[in-house]
Amino acid sequence: MYYGDDLIEEIRIKNDIVDVISGYVKLQRKGSSYFGLCPFHNEKSPSFSVTPSKQMYHCFGCGAGGNVYTFVMQYENYDFVEAVKFLAERAGIVLPEESKDAENQKTSSLRKTLLEINKKAAYFYFYKLKQQDGQIGYQYLTKRALSPETIKHFGLGYAGKYRDELYRYLKKEGYSDEVLKESGLITFDEKRGIYDKFFNRVMFPIMDVNSRVIGFGGRVMGDGEPKYLNSPETKVFEKSRNLYGLNLARSSRAAYMIICEGYMDVIAMHQAGFQNAVASLGTAFTSGHASLLKRYTEEVLLCYDSDKAGINAALRAIPICKSAGLAVKIINMQPYKDPDEFIRNLGHDAFQERIEQAKNAFFFEIEVLEQDYDLKDPEGKTRFVNEVAKKLLNFEEEIERNNYLEAVADRYHIGFENLRMLVNKFGLQLDTAAKSFETQQKREKRREEKNPALEHQMLLLTWLIDRPGLYAQIKDYVTPKDFPEGVYHIVAKCLFAQLEEGVLEPAKILNVFQEREEQEKAAALFNAKVPALESKAAEEKACKDVVVKVKRGTMDYEMSRLEPADIVGMQRLMADKKNMIQELEKLHISFD
Ligand code: GTP
Ligand code: MN
Repeated sequence: MYYGDDLIEEIRIKNDIVDVISGYVKLQRKGSSYFGLCPFHNEKSPSFSVTPSKQMYHCFGCGAGGNVYTFVMQYENYDFVEAVKFLAERAGIVLPEESKDAENQKTSSLRKTLLEINKKAAYFYFYKLKQQDGQIGYQYLTKRALSPETIKHFGLGYAGKYRDELYRYLKKEGYSDEVLKESGLITFDEKRGIYDKFFNRVMFPIMDVNSRVIGFGGRVMGDGEPKYLNSPETKVFEKSRNLYGLNLARSSRAAYMIICEGYMDVIAMHQAGFQNAVASLGTAFTSGHASLLKRYTEEVLLCYDSDKAGINAALRAIPICKSAGLAVKIINMQPYKDPDEFIRNLGHDAFQERIEQAKNAFFFEIEVLEQDYDLKDPEGKTRFVNEVAKKLLNFEEEIERNNYLEAVADRYHIGFENLRMLVNKFGLQLDTAAKSFETQQKREKRREEKNPALEHQMLLLTWLIDRPGLYAQIKDYVTPKDFPEGVYHIVAKCLFAQLEEGVLEPAKILNVFQEREEQEKAAALFNAKVPALESKAAEEKACKDVVVKVKRGTMDYEMSRLEPADIVGMQRLMADKKNMIQELEKLHISFD
């Protein structure tokens, strides 16, 4: 859904940042700002500040910062659209209907109906659990050590023995066969007629991140087949984009998420106090799951079953997580089969210990690999070491790679230098392959970290925000074109426009960014401090130097974009550069 800029801004203005944040953090006034304990990192003395005049917040401890949208995105783990909806509702602003065109309208109302049906079915199953003929289900869950609170918390239920109870109920509620077919909860069979998909099973409603029921898992009580039956994919149920328990886990605010295999595992974990556990929905872990998790965390702990299948599932999940930018560790459940059994036998503290002992994914991988080779046999060991060397290539950062090299060399008694040479040999062979391993994002980030031109741009923007009076002095020399790319370009465009009008509203500029990372990068500009030098004259000179560097950067940028054979273009740029340097001689910056 796309909302217009004016609407976004109106919603922002009607949600005073101090009001909103006060709902989450105890704030105390100190001068022109408010201070409190930062909700984004652990601290004992307040370094989290909210400034009403800027309508922004900033933590001097962890660097978090932004406007009211950034705050709810960070705190509630919302994406931008969710944040807009949340704040609009808070301010009593009615958002325009999702979409007007007929086809969209039809699918959107079908989606709405399917969500309604799923919700009603969930209540139906939940209610059944407390009835006489649902006792068998309730007893099963109780025998599996679930408390009444847990059963309620997860909305667990029971699908009765008769094969048409849900169908009859939903018909009474007025749904057509056509739409019930789409819900996946009712089976329409030419020969056998119409019947409920789930019967005589305990039911696990599956919810999306906003706690809307989108499907079900149903477990037989005892040893029947199949053990679990799941809703088929429907217009509202996409298995590779949802995770069981994420609606609860996303606000657990733990530093990492724990990925388990089964519904029961997630429930047992939450009951034991690990509210950051999630599971995939009876399917393998996908890159869709990984990028979903990346919205909420930087690190995942895999807690798969201890058997061969679980180990293989972990081996498949590791690279998927890594390429989504998640750090990965593996939790060992031995001697138990899965977290549910582990917790039932050893309890919370023992599990916490296992979390702390979670194994680095790389070591996990090579330990599994090791089992395929006979390390006592020189031939076997050589082949194993070769495989490990190839894997070491996946670490692109030299320091990181060397650390692993050292650890591996140590553990398997291979000389460090020998191993390094072997890795380099494969490195040369696989150079191109290894390069493509680097994700676009990482490459960009690295370029930025080492890019002095961007540092100068950032400094100049910070300076302009800090001393708006500077604008009039430099505006004949510097334009948004001197910030040619990315977040800084957009900030520069907005900032220059505001400075031209004489109203600096940093929080408004942040509206433009819908990705949290971009928002934070832009917000950092408004909270960074320009270096304080010994005298005003020195600062003025430093500022002018930065202007000159930014202008030179622009020239270099344009130069780099010329076709290699464009001699004329090159000559023109050289002449421009000479002129510009002369022009800049006249620039005099004064901080008075
Ligand atoms: P419990 O025996 O109830 O403890 O199950 P579990 O959670 O230990 O399940 P298991 O490790 O056997 O399976 C993990 C997950 O895989 C389950 O939660 C289901 O989502 C899925 N699953 C298991 N068995 C089946 C099956 O027969 N069919 C389908 N479609 N999915 C299954
Ligand atoms: Mn189990």
